[in-house]
Amino acid sequence: MTVTFLSMDDVRSLINMKDVIGAVDEAFREKARGKVQMPPKVYLFFHEYEGDFRVMPGYIPSLKSAGVKVVNVHVKNKDKGLPTVMATILLLDPETGEPMAILDGTLLTSMRTGAAGAIAAREMAKKGFKKVAFVGAGTQAKYQLLGLNEIAKGLTGKAYDVSEASVEKFSEYAKSVGAAIDVASSVKECISDADVIITTTPATEPVVRNGWVPEGAHINAIGADAPGKEELDPEVLLRARIIVDDMEQAVHSGEVNVPILKGLLKQQKIAGEIGQVLEGKIKGRTSEKEITVFDSTGLAIQDIASASLALRRAVEKGIGVKLRLF
Ligand SMILES: NC(=O)c1ccc[n+]([C@@H]2O[C@H](COP(=O)([O-])OP(=O)(O)OC[C@H]3O[C@@H](n4cnc5c(N)ncnc54)[C@H](O)[C@@H]3O)[C@@H](O)[C@H]2O)c1
Repeated sequence: MTVTFLSMDDVRSLINMKDVIGAVDEAFREKARGKVQMPPKVYLFFHEYEGDFRVMPGYIPSLKSAGVKVVNVHVKNKDKGLPTVMATILLLDPETGEPMAILDGTLLTSMRTGAAGAIAAREMAKKGFKKVAFVGAGTQAKYQLLGLNEIAKGLTGKAYDVSEASVEKFSEYAKSVGAAIDVASSVKECISDADVIITTTPATEPVVRNGWVPEGAHINAIGADAPGKEELDPEVLLRARIIVDDMEQAVHSGEVNVPILKGLLKQQKIAGEIGQVLEGKIKGRTSEKEITVFDSTGLAIQDIASASLALRRAVEKGIGVKLRLF
């Protein structure tokens, strides 16, 4: 019994952002069609280390692909020279349960999250958007930019981060992919004229105030993906059309989790899931002036769809190392 092992470099050589946008788009649609299995992620909390890890199983029958991702979030890891988020994915053959592949899921997590953001902006932001604001300028911000770059060219805008070094680095990186993203000295300055606002901080208290969000803006709320995390003033959510990636996960651990728990927001305010928007069952945006929010918690099916594409390509190209299990 052997499994194929794919490192981060292997994954990078096999799939690009455009591929992942396609894979995630189809996974969201399959979910809306009721054709996937995906129980909500399970969390373990390492409070003493300011970290957690999540176990995320999923099955997409149309891809004949099932598996599980194990992923952490440790906000102090940067000080130790490690990424905040790291992941490993195990794919199984649904027909026999045979383990098929072990993949680095760190790059895949960033790519599939960037892909989800791009899909949400494509469906929910004003047509022809150009100005993007990045609140938080770490790893996920970079992949949100790469995702947006696939659907809109000539992006301009601003970025803000509590770390000056991170935001300077992000602004330089943006230039290298054809986007002009200036450094802002406050969140207010960063977002005040944006068409699209991307929040990717690990904040547990709102960083984006209601009064600063311009009319017609679309917000990709990416950072809040565990109970107790929130980036947006609840007043923004009360004013906005809210679309989530998965209702159960969002209520438990998405941007809406804290305001719902505090009784400030009702679950009924959530218009639906992104897959329903893609399938034309509900609208992403209903007017030019509307504020729209995509609440991303990150779905196991995004990982399984992207990993299964990487594995199919690896098999075709003979890439990866065979590991003997027994
Ligand atoms: N929704 C999803 O699918 C998904 C996927 C991956 C990660 N995440 C979440 O996204 C967040 C960011 O992950 P990452 O990998 O980019 O981490 P990262 O550490 O690389 O980047 C986070 C950045 O936010 C900055 N920051 C922290 N507090 C801030 C504040 N109050 N205002 C402005 N900037 C602030 C940090 O300085 C850092 O540069 C985490 O909360 C993570 O759990 C969500």
